[in-house]
Amino acid sequence: MQVKKLTIPDIVRRKQDGPPISSLTAYDYPWAKLIDQAGTDIILVGDSLGMVILGYNGTVAVTMEDMLHHSKAVARAVERALIVTDMPFGSYNCSHSEAITNANRLLKEGGADAVKLEGGTEMAKVAAAIVKAGIPVQGHVGLTPQTATNLGGFRVQGRDARAAQKLFEDARAMEDAGCFSVVLEAIPAPLAAHITKNLSIPTIGIGAGPDCDGQVLVMHDLLGLYERFTPKFVKQYAKLGESALQAIKAYNDEVACRSFPAAEHSFSMKEEELHQLIEKTR
Ligand code: KIV
Repeated sequence: MQVKKLTIPDIVRRKQDGPPISSLTAYDYPWAKLIDQAGTDIILVGDSLGMVILGYNGTVAVTMEDMLHHSKAVARAVERALIVTDMPFGSYNCSHSEAITNANRLLKEGGADAVKLEGGTEMAKVAAAIVKAGIPVQGHVGLTPQTATNLGGFRVQGRDARAAQKLFEDARAMEDAGCFSVVLEAIPAPLAAHITKNLSIPTIGIGAGPDCDGQVLVMHDLLGLYERFTPKFVKQYAKLGESALQAIKAYNDEVACRSFPAAEHSFSMKEEELHQLIEKTR
């Protein structure tokens, strides 16, 4: 059956009409297929792949080529979800024309429907230039992992009135730039609720409480596949890392005692053919 692909207006309408928007990261074909089949609205090819797929300590080292490689794999799998691909660090903090070129590549080569970039008021002009070029942009404010060092590390943002006002202005700047939605990461729930109430575009929260217009998580966190660090805001819905470890250990044990492969995993040949071979090669 043909599945209807979600569009930007479908996502934007959900702010008024609901239900809340569900978003999850994916980085490859098999997981993107499952996440799409489960009815997730936005699949984010996040630059978190630098940590959960490539094993870096952060996202700064992720390149355009990395993002294109994973975005293409996701795009081959997805039928319904809107695909948003992260612009990696260094791909938009440059001239507007270079940023537009990079965003174009993520759509044309990477199969993305939209791009995401991190930053508030200071990134509003580049976000606006990309939007003006016809490319849908999702903003990302609050804890912005690409520039986390400037923010004092991976910590909650906007806890006092001054910082909260700056975050409010950041989210507004992304709306004014023409973004179709904005991710709010690691900010107090009442601040996220206030921003959500005052913006006309959907807010997608990660560690931003229940009142955003949608929620996003990193799939490895949700499924228990990334052991190095689990933020407080993550709910682990499964422990697939543990199940995978048990399965791989069982395989290793069966190889060691020759109980794998069994007859049902092996191919046979006719007795006389084998005989002939033995005669000819003895
Ligand atoms: O890269 C990513 O996965 C993200 C989410 C944490 C929103 O930006």
